[in-house]
Amino acid sequence: MGTEKLWALLRPNSIAVVGASRDPSKIGSRILRNILSSGFQGVVYAVNPNASEVLGVRCYSSVLDVPGVIDLAVVAVPARFVPQVIEECGRKGVKAVAVISSGFKEVGNIELEKEVVEIAKKHGIRLLGPNIVGVWDTRTPVNYSFIDANPLPGSVAFISQSGALMTSLLWWTRERGIGFSCLISIGNRADVGEADLLALLREDPRTRVVAIYIEGLGVGEGRRFLDEAFETSTVKPVIVLKAGRSEAAVEAIRSHTGSLAGSDEVYEAALKQARALRAASLRELFNWALALALSPEPGEGTAVILTHGGGAGVIATDALSGMGVPLAPLPQDLQERLRKFMPPFGSTRNPVDLTGMMTAESLRGSLVEVLRDPRVGAVLVWAGQGAIPTPEELGEAVISAVGEAGLAKPLIVSITGGGECREVLKKLIQAGVPSYESPEDAASALAAVYRYYRCRRERKGEPARVEGDRARAEEIIGRARAEERVLLTPVESFEVARAYGIPVVEYAFAPNLEAAAEAAQVIGYPVALAVETPDVAHKTEVGGIALDIRSEEELRAAYAKVMEAFAKRVPKAKVFGVSVRKMMPRGFEVFVGARRDPVFGPVISFGWGGVMVELVRDFSLRVAPLTQGDIEDMIEETKAGKVLKGYRGPPLDVEAVKKVVASVASLVEDFEEISSIDVNPIFVYEKGVVAVDVKVYLKA
Ligand code: COA
Repeated sequence: MGTEKLWALLRPNSIAVVGASRDPSKIGSRILRNILSSGFQGVVYAVNPNASEVLGVRCYSSVLDVPGVIDLAVVAVPARFVPQVIEECGRKGVKAVAVISSGFKEVGNIELEKEVVEIAKKHGIRLLGPNIVGVWDTRTPVNYSFIDANPLPGSVAFISQSGALMTSLLWWTRERGIGFSCLISIGNRADVGEADLLALLREDPRTRVVAIYIEGLGVGEGRRFLDEAFETSTVKPVIVLKAGRSEAAVEAIRSHTGSLAGSDEVYEAALKQARALRAASLRELFNWALALALSPEPGEGTAVILTHGGGAGVIATDALSGMGVPLAPLPQDLQERLRKFMPPFGSTRNPVDLTGMMTAESLRGSLVEVLRDPRVGAVLVWAGQGAIPTPEELGEAVISAVGEAGLAKPLIVSITGGGECREVLKKLIQAGVPSYESPEDAASALAAVYRYYRCRRERKGEPARVEGDRARAEEIIGRARAEERVLLTPVESFEVARAYGIPVVEYAFAPNLEAAAEAAQVIGYPVALAVETPDVAHKTEVGGIALDIRSEEELRAAYAKVMEAFAKRVPKAKVFGVSVRKMMPRGFEVFVGARRDPVFGPVISFGWGGVMVELVRDFSLRVAPLTQGDIEDMIEETKAGKVLKGYRGPPLDVEAVKKVVASVASLVEDFEEISSIDVNPIFVYEKGVVAVDVKVYLKA
């Protein structure tokens, strides 16, 4: 889907407001008034059968009566009338509609929402909403929301599933001097969603940062969102605030926009894969957006903290070093040049401490030095309000230094103090310097700038595909499906795993005791026995497994024992016989798994394996398809990964583990019928791996 029609949402040449009324208090009229007062240069029509003119704008009974072309229809009529309005928009050739009206999916009117989307699709109209507050674009400019205030112009685009949040932030950001290219309320996101807008805003030269507030994505939408966010983050940062970490929040989201909140861990993984920055709060979202909108890429070399207070220097140092920002002592010659701006008891190392004797002039002079020095990658200035210099003088000193030295590297400023500081911070922001009240906010913003540019450089890597023996896996899965099973037997699971190149323990199926004894002879003792059943996944718990059998005698006894225990504990379970498996020497245990997430599709997990996975909880997730880079990151993120690389022992066969991850991912991608896979444990040796147990679950 191209972006041509979507542009009508931000840069329309003509707008019809459907539901504009002579009653000035009605939402349609407020929207019309806001369009007219926002400086919109295009043509505006009003549509309402009960009026001939609203606010001096010619009014038509229907969009079909409008003589000219309509790029965008803004619809503010009660929900039940919306289908007819969209139908008429379709016949009129309208490119996009923004449906302000509430009363759809968010209150359970799912069918009505579906109907509206189908009509729009039939006519090739892009539909924003329903249930939105509207849109602001500061370039066009236009405000077709029902809020009569405009954001400051700037280069942050903000997309929000919550209209009320967007509106309150409009004032909050205006107070702080944060400017926007556009604000887009997407409400129920019945047609146009975050992924479409990412594709659009990627092309928008006015937008330098895309900030998104997400409650949840729709079923099956995750992968496209991830891909669009990935593409976008190669050219501009994408920052996401994803609400719904707690169960209670997930419930609240369901009743708000009817979105699927989904597992937070999966979102976390997907956002990493997309190279999006995940903010933990609204404050972080806008603090980071501001810094990224105004800052160039950090240069090589150390970041410098410039301050006049030891305490703040320590706080900033702690914060920055904990967030991966490089901090090193300054080169000797630079230290010498800085020396003249401070008393003998000042510090020229890093943090540079100008001490309580700092003047506006010494701040200015030292800032010019570090801004100019190519061995400094970024600068963080912290100053506290005192008697001399005043906050105004501090602000002027920074602006003057920037005027002289330019801004070829990130410069982040924090001035902490009373209400007077607020105005100074705003002035600094307007001069292009991201500025904050607290040193922690400043540090976190600078760290976000570093993080973005660091992960932008990371390449996506080769796709990690394994071409398995599809026919073989299909045969096994097809047979189980025909028998309406939801679980493959152990032997079937091994076969499927093997078909995709996963090294599994040597095994044989035995329908009876004699066959088992023969198989054990061939495989060689010691062996393990497991009841071959399609009905029970966890066989240890019901006595269906015997380990470390060392002779035929032991085997015969074990066989009788597992069969008896199994029959007693799960009398209804089908039993085909047993599988005989070679007892493998214990290796370091990891697991690889896959399951299907309703939003993102196949999600692959890797972690510390064995019987205590739930207790240990050392794992990482990624959304398939995976790249080699994804797999490396997955392993890197876990403690198990550190053991694999050689923790108090020799390095283990990481490459073989990576292959298993790729195989499991390819398997679930290839077979929609598989609902989940557990390969646990996998013994990892210095050379090679072997999967000791595999469980494949099918969709019901
Ligand atoms: N074409 C054109 N105009 C139509 C129409 C149609 N098919 N059907 C009705 N209208 C007119 C009405 O006659 C009325 O004009 P009038 O005052 O001249 O009679 C006007 O459209 C508005 O309709 P009305 O029935 O008065 O509704 P309203 O203005 O009170 O409310 C909404 C309409 C859309 C604002 C309301 O239903 C709603 O959804 N509000 C919530 C919006 C919201 O909060 N969004 C989410 C924010 S996060």
